[in-house]
Amino acid sequence: MSDILSHTDAGVMSLTFNRLDKKNAITSAMYTAMADAVAHAASDAAVKVLVFQGHESIFTSGNDIGDFLNQAPSTQASPVFRFLRGIATFPKPLLAAVAGPAVGIGTTMLFHCDLVYAGDNAAFSMPFVNLGLCPEAASSLLVPRMFGYHRAAEALLMGEAFFAEAAQEVGLVNRVVPPTEVNGYVQSQARKLAGKPLSSLVETKRLMKGNSQEEMLQKMDEEGQSFGRMLREPAAKEAFGAFMEKRKPDFSKF
Ligand code: COA
Repeated sequence: MSDILSHTDAGVMSLTFNRLDKKNAITSAMYTAMADAVAHAASDAAVKVLVFQGHESIFTSGNDIGDFLNQAPSTQASPVFRFLRGIATFPKPLLAAVAGPAVGIGTTMLFHCDLVYAGDNAAFSMPFVNLGLCPEAASSLLVPRMFGYHRAAEALLMGEAFFAEAAQEVGLVNRVVPPTEVNGYVQSQARKLAGKPLSSLVETKRLMKGNSQEEMLQKMDEEGQSFGRMLREPAAKEAFGAFMEKRKPDFSKF
C-alpha cells in the first residue's frame, strides 16, 4: 500500500500519511507523490478543497532522516521544495487534521494551510536547531508573524514541543477535538467548503494573502539554501548520526 493515500470525493481531495511503522516519516518519494498531487489539485476543476491528514496517534515525524541523508535536497527542483512551493502557492482552500506529533515540516507545512484542526493529543515541534539545521518552509518569517517574536524564538530556538491548546491560543489551530474525531471533523469542514463557489473561495484566499507571497517565497528560498548547506555540516551529521544510533547528540564541539 502507498505511503501517501490519495482520495477524491465530492470536490475534496484528501492526502493521508500512511507509513505508521516509521511514524509517517516523509521520504523523497512521498514528497514527490504529494507535490504531484498538489499540482494536480491546483489545476483540476473537480478538486475544490485539499486536505492533509494522518493517523489519530501521529500526524508525521517529519523528514525521514535516513532518506534525507541519502538524498539531501540540493536544488529548488528537489521534491521537498517542490512540495513546499506547491502548498505555499496553492490557490484553493487547504486544510489539515493533526493528531499526535507533528514534527518539523509536519508543523511548518501548517503555516500554509487555511484551516487547521487538532486532536487534543497534538504535539507540534520545529526542532531544527536540535538537528544542527535552520527553519524551512518560510517558518522563520511566518512563525514570528503569527506567534509574536518571543514565542516564536521559544519555538524555533528551543525546538521543544508545544501542544494543542497553546497552538490554538497563538492562532495556528482553529479548533481542538478528540483525536479519534479530528479526521472526520476536517472532512466535514472540507465538504462544507466544497459546497461553496470555487471562484469565491479562490478570490477570497488571494485577497487575504495579499502581497505577502513574494516575500514568503523569497524567505523559503533563502532558508532552503541555508538548510541545504547546514545539512552537510558537522553539527547536522552528529545529530542525524545520533538519531540513527539511538543516542543523544553531542554538540560540545560545535
Ligand atoms: N525518520 C526516520 N525514521 C523515523 C523518524 C524519522 N523522522 N521518526 C521515527 N522514525 C522511526 C524510528 O527510527 C523507529 O524505527 P524502528 O522501529 O525501525 O527503530 C520507528 O520510526 C518508531 O519511532 P520511535 O521513535 O520508536 O517512536 P516514538 O513513538 O517513541 O516517537 C517521535 C515518535 C515522532 C516523537 C520520534 O520518532 C521522533 O522524535 N522522531 C524524529 C523526529 C525528527 O527529528 N524528525 C526530523 C525533522 S527534520
